[in-house]
Amino acid sequence: MDIRKLKLKDLEGVRKLEISCIREYFKETIENKWEDLPEEWKENLGASSRKHFRAYLESGLSFVAVEDDEVIGFLFAQMLHHIADAENLVWIENMGVHPYFRRNQIAYRMLAACLKEGIAQGADVAHSTIQPGNAPSIMLHKKAGFFMDPRQVALMDLKDPKLRL
Ligand SMILES: CC(C)(COP(=O)(O)OP(=O)(O)OC[C@H]1O[C@@H](n2cnc3c(N)ncnc32)[C@H](O)[C@@H]1OP(=O)(O)O)[C@@H](O)C(=O)NCCC(=O)NCCS
Repeated sequence: MDIRKLKLKDLEGVRKLEISCIREYFKETIENKWEDLPEEWKENLGASSRKHFRAYLESGLSFVAVEDDEVIGFLFAQMLHHIADAENLVWIENMGVHPYFRRNQIAYRMLAACLKEGIAQGADVAHSTIQPGNAPSIMLHKKAGFFMDPRQVALMDLKDPKLRL
């Protein structure tokens, strides 16, 4: 098994794996059936989607785990600037490991690779969003040395036609 930087040739494999991880999350959290969700909305989901992939490819901070030419793990990250008192912040957007290969330190190694590369690129801090009930993810981040910040994130859909400002 090899852990290396994301390449363009990984697009198809990493898309498949990210979507299956997103579907796994949806199954546990949202009542909507995947099949009922609008196609266009699904196409834009995830860092591997058409609109976002290149940014994560070019950041040099995204990694994949590869076994026999198959993508079995991914971590998408990019550098953000002037956020949370930091000039350079590693923003970890998403990560996942194929269920068959979990608990083999693959996510841990991808995270370490990303953070090392972030330091090399001049990052001061790393940020990763975790769903409150995601125990594997919480434990992974704790093991890697992250501290959990109790702040909550407030989001607003600025394209919502019903938005009143
Ligand atoms: C979260 C996820 C990426 C972890 O991947 P992984 O390769 O299995 O994790 P690792 O083997 O590197 O685990 C490293 C540490 O994380 C913790 N951990 C990982 N999975 C765990 C689990 N199921 N239960 C408890 N702790 C867990 C442990 O501390 C583990 O170290 P240990 O094995 O020495 O005890 C994986 O479970 C996954 O893909 N989940 C679905 C997608 C997802 O939730 N992504 C997170 C978005 S932030």
